[in-house]
Amino acid sequence: MKTACVLLSLSLAAPAVLPAAEDPPPQHVQWMKESGQLQDKIRNGQDVAASARRLQALYKDVEAFWAKRKSEIAVKAVRDIQAAAAKVAAGDASAGRAIGGGCRACHDQHREKISDTVYKIK
Ligand code: HEC
Repeated sequence: MKTACVLLSLSLAAPAVLPAAEDPPPQHVQWMKESGQLQDKIRNGQDVAASARRLQALYKDVEAFWAKRKSEIAVKAVRDIQAAAAKVAAGDASAGRAIGGGCRACHDQHREKISDTVYKIK
């Protein structure tokens, strides 16, 4: 409880003490836009295996980017996505949910929404 209070006050104070959110490199934005498209296709049952294979390859590159930033949450998320995408590619449609779980885990931690069309890295 005490820890929770400290964490809460830290997070309330955060905007004043943390550096501003960072502009993502164009390559990162491109990966994310493609992720969204591939994820939509998988959800809609369109080119599922090919989309999952592409997602798996794409998240190898995303992993290399995030490994340098030393975020365990991000690296776990990108590995979970690769593993889940491999299952979807192999025909296990139920693993689709785990892909979304990986996206969400990283977004909760590292995505800063500036507006409906602009996002940054935090
Ligand atoms: C390792 C962290 C991480 C993972 C995993 C991740 N994202 Fe992102 N995503 C971000 C960050 C940071 C941003 C904001 C910066 C940017 O847009 O590049 C973002 C932005 C986005 C955007 C907005 C792009 C734009 O600018 O229009 C979409 C769409 C998106 N992600 C989809 C996904 C999907 C779908 C997945 C899962 C398949 C996913 N992301 C997984 C970190 C991640």
